[in-house]
Amino acid sequence: MEICISIIVQHSLIIYSMLSKINPTTTQTWEKLTAHYQQIKDKKLTEFFDEDPLRFETFSQRFKNILIDFSKNQLGKDTMELFSRLFNECKISESIEHQFTGGKINRTENRAVLHTALRNISKSPIYLEGKNVMLSINEVWKQMEVFSNKIINGEHKGYTGKPISDIINVGIGGSDLGPQMVYEALKPYHQKRIKCHYVSNIDGAHMAETLKKVNPETCLFIIASKTFTTQETMTNANSARDWFLEKGGGINDISSHFVAVSTNSEKVVEFGIDPNNMFVFWDWVGGRYSLWSSIGLSLCCGLGFSSYWKLLEGAHEMDIHFRNESFENNIPLQMAAIGIWYTNFFEAESEAILPYDQNMHRFAAYFQQGNMESNGKSVDRNSKKVDYSTGPIIWGEPGTNGQHAFYQLIHQGTHTIPCDFIGFVNSHYQMGDHHPKLMANFFAQTEALMKGKSKIEAQSELEAMGKTSNEIKEILDFKVFEGSKPSTSILGEILDEKTLGSLIACYEHKIFAQGIVWNIYSYDQWGVELGKALANELVPMVKGKATSKGKDASTIGLLNAYLELSKSR
Ligand code: F6P
Repeated sequence: MEICISIIVQHSLIIYSMLSKINPTTTQTWEKLTAHYQQIKDKKLTEFFDEDPLRFETFSQRFKNILIDFSKNQLGKDTMELFSRLFNECKISESIEHQFTGGKINRTENRAVLHTALRNISKSPIYLEGKNVMLSINEVWKQMEVFSNKIINGEHKGYTGKPISDIINVGIGGSDLGPQMVYEALKPYHQKRIKCHYVSNIDGAHMAETLKKVNPETCLFIIASKTFTTQETMTNANSARDWFLEKGGGINDISSHFVAVSTNSEKVVEFGIDPNNMFVFWDWVGGRYSLWSSIGLSLCCGLGFSSYWKLLEGAHEMDIHFRNESFENNIPLQMAAIGIWYTNFFEAESEAILPYDQNMHRFAAYFQQGNMESNGKSVDRNSKKVDYSTGPIIWGEPGTNGQHAFYQLIHQGTHTIPCDFIGFVNSHYQMGDHHPKLMANFFAQTEALMKGKSKIEAQSELEAMGKTSNEIKEILDFKVFEGSKPSTSILGEILDEKTLGSLIACYEHKIFAQGIVWNIYSYDQWGVELGKALANELVPMVKGKATSKGKDASTIGLLNAYLELSKSR
């Protein structure tokens, strides 16, 4: 018994000291990077290309059918060598191994982080606390496959005997953004007879407008919530159930129209969902990484299980790459390094993700959560406030829409905004010359950002247009583009399930690696708790059923105005 306790104690000590606690700015390499930054910060991107005709080859990586071109970034081989050393100093390889092997690296929640197991299609054993997690994952995969096949082939019937035609996924954050993003991105692979809808916002408009589009006899609600306590999801789920009962469904019909995806079986049963209609996952799956768990059920139904499997396959291939490749060939690690380079040395505050693919219109939104909820931290792994920047602000829209909206600022504004351009050689949509024009815009933007336009070039353009010297003088300065605006180009062959899976996993690993270097815990999200708690406290006050006493003057003012104005309607 004593021996046993001692082993447990030792084991937990090992667990807690798993990730290094090194402040990156105190490393030798950081100092060298700082000196290196001073040397190359003003060097034009075009100069790098002039010096090295093979720069594109040197700074391009290939992964399966994806090409990643880092060459239009403000860096040289020496920069990447320094980052390789920094990553070593910050014990990146050890951290990667801890993650993949179930180390409790989510220290503040005392949890392992094993979303990579959820796409371990090799099914090779992965042990957590002595148990092979692949056994239960495999069971859930089977359950998802059987269920989604029944939905797709019409065997699963609604309460009037009709097959299901509409799936409404009710969830928020990771229980919504991931499946929705993938469903949108993979439009060409949609099942013809099934349509998926995603309801997340507690604003009644979201649920009400979605319900207008569906028939209670043929719709299935997937209540997707890791905790099954999230205010938005539970409110939406209750309204969906009320609507279903009002529209003719009976209590006994709930089992054929409501299923749950959760880690909390108690709450699922309390809500009234049959435990047989529950798809489980585990506390070692972070909300924003839960796309890979049964939270992907809507995708199995809307795309088919084989498509979902290919998505997992693509992600798994990227996992193998990330785990095994050295820094020199490791795409997520290089992306992480480049991000740190801009964030901490060039003081860039944001990164833009710009897919030149309309169907990827939710990709940036998805990684807003992925990145900002993971690395939006300011306390390090020693519980100390950091004195350097951590996760950047992530934003973006599909090209070419962004070009006619915010690219002005990227080209001529005062902020450094590293951009990821993502596009594909082939389109699923053979319509006229849309695709070559789309891709010409992709390439043109990265070229324009890099090269810019000098005063001399701008002047000769204006002269060629026949402008007088006075006219030129008036306008010349505004026509200049500084250039040397960094971008990374990601070019895939076609946006299919595997490619998307690999891309998502690549960004996830980039985020993880950056969190390791920034010495923060990337897998918790305590910053969302305060607002949640206050909202719960405020509900009775907004309903006029509790006094706002004790609140600050502004909140009281807002509440009073709300209550007063609500009387006037
Ligand atoms: O916003 C915080 C958060 O916990 C996210 O991390 C998560 O994805 C989301 O809420 C939804 O949580 P749940 O799946 O438990 O409803």
